Amino acid sequence: MSFPSLEVDPRAPADLTVRGIMAEEVSPVLREAGVVWLASPGGEVWVVVGDDVRGAFRKLGARLRDLDTLRLRVDLPEGWEGEALEGLLLGLYRLRFPRPQGARTILLKEEFPGLAALESRMRGVYTARDLASWPANELSPDAFARTARDRLEGLPVEVEILDEAWLAREGFGGVLAVARGSHRPPRMLRLSYRPEGATAGLNLVGKGVVFDTGGINLKRVRMNEMVSMRQDKTGAAVVVGVVEAVARLGLPVRIEAAVPLVENMPGGGATRPGDVVRMYRGLHVEITNTDAEGRLILADALSWIQEAFPQTPTVDFATLTGAAVVALGKSRAPVFSNRETLQDALVRAGESVGERLWPLPVAEEYRELLRSPVADLVNSAGRREAGAVVAATFLWHFVRDDTPWAHIDIAGTGIGEGVSTGFGVRLMVRFLEHQVQTS
Ligand code: BES
Ligand code: ZN
Ligand code: ZN
Repeated sequence: MSFPSLEVDPRAPADLTVRGIMAEEVSPVLREAGVVWLASPGGEVWVVVGDDVRGAFRKLGARLRDLDTLRLRVDLPEGWEGEALEGLLLGLYRLRFPRPQGARTILLKEEFPGLAALESRMRGVYTARDLASWPANELSPDAFARTARDRLEGLPVEVEILDEAWLAREGFGGVLAVARGSHRPPRMLRLSYRPEGATAGLNLVGKGVVFDTGGINLKRVRMNEMVSMRQDKTGAAVVVGVVEAVARLGLPVRIEAAVPLVENMPGGGATRPGDVVRMYRGLHVEITNTDAEGRLILADALSWIQEAFPQTPTVDFATLTGAAVVALGKSRAPVFSNRETLQDALVRAGESVGERLWPLPVAEEYRELLRSPVADLVNSAGRREAGAVVAATFLWHFVRDDTPWAHIDIAGTGIGEGVSTGFGVRLMVRFLEHQVQTS
């Protein structure tokens, strides 16, 4: 919401000075006790780190998050600055209504290598979290698209917002089918970042369901559980965040992003279970469950972006299945890919930034679960087994054989308490930095 200002000023007054130290340097006892930080008189806080610098500082940041006015000095051992500040910024993120008026400042002793890059990256994460977490009453598909455009203003990114009439003309049957139950029309957000001298290219797709009621298959959830479905646009938000970060960093990679935006509501015009729709690629899908809506909008966007930029590595982010949460919980996201090299590179990037992935299969034998008696395939198998894999298999139908593709299901890792984590932004930035280095 408000990105804290990062200022280099060794003398300005502060409310608190934060320092860091390894647990070993204090005492093994502290390490065992798992102490995260200790305060000393004079306004100092020592963050005692076991092995995870970023995580320890994130926890401290989260404790300070609700202070409207904050001047924080950080005085860190050399080499810690990047990870510690990243952690602090991750923890300090907040979403509050009404908007707090105070200013939050982080004061640094001196410049350090990577400070500007850190800010670029974290601004992308903040944008992703804002868009993903913002209440759906204020963020219709159109408002999401316009807000994304505002965030990217001044950056070398081409933004196009395509409306419902355009989607209808071009045959985006999946997007339209999901959007029909809502008064608020769908959009397709197109982002292009085409730097001179680009040495690599990437297509990005993100699930932008501004709210997921389930549609006619209305979600039957435990008390208050549907609140988190305002974060069902996290995939879309992550894509916008990646593009913002990469453009700010000026990385020489070409990115083409397609972000389908809809609201899944059970209105009078809503798609019914049993309806058959013609997708962008021409395949017909029998909609057996209107709550399996993400795959419908992603399939259209995947088909479209591959048609425009074939053979380009294509990655999609989506809060796609409850089954992904059941399988891996909140610490790792399942990654599905038709190319081992792409999958491995994503896993490695995730490890290095603490956004962990774990591979699940893309394999022929799952296709039969999606067989339809009346159409090319169904959107939901109607049984619980392998739910996350089945969803990925559905998407796979819309991926060309010559496209290296990866699908990352962030239903568990992306959706947070009240606010989205923005899981995937730092991962993709790391992945792309690596692509640039090795190309
Ligand atoms: N947005 C949900 C997935 C989800 C569930 C994300 C819980 C985060 C937390 C998705 O659209 C959905 O409803 N998926 C169904 C698919 C099923 C009907 C095949 C699911 O997971 O139950
Ligand atoms: Zn759903
Ligand atoms: Zn959904």
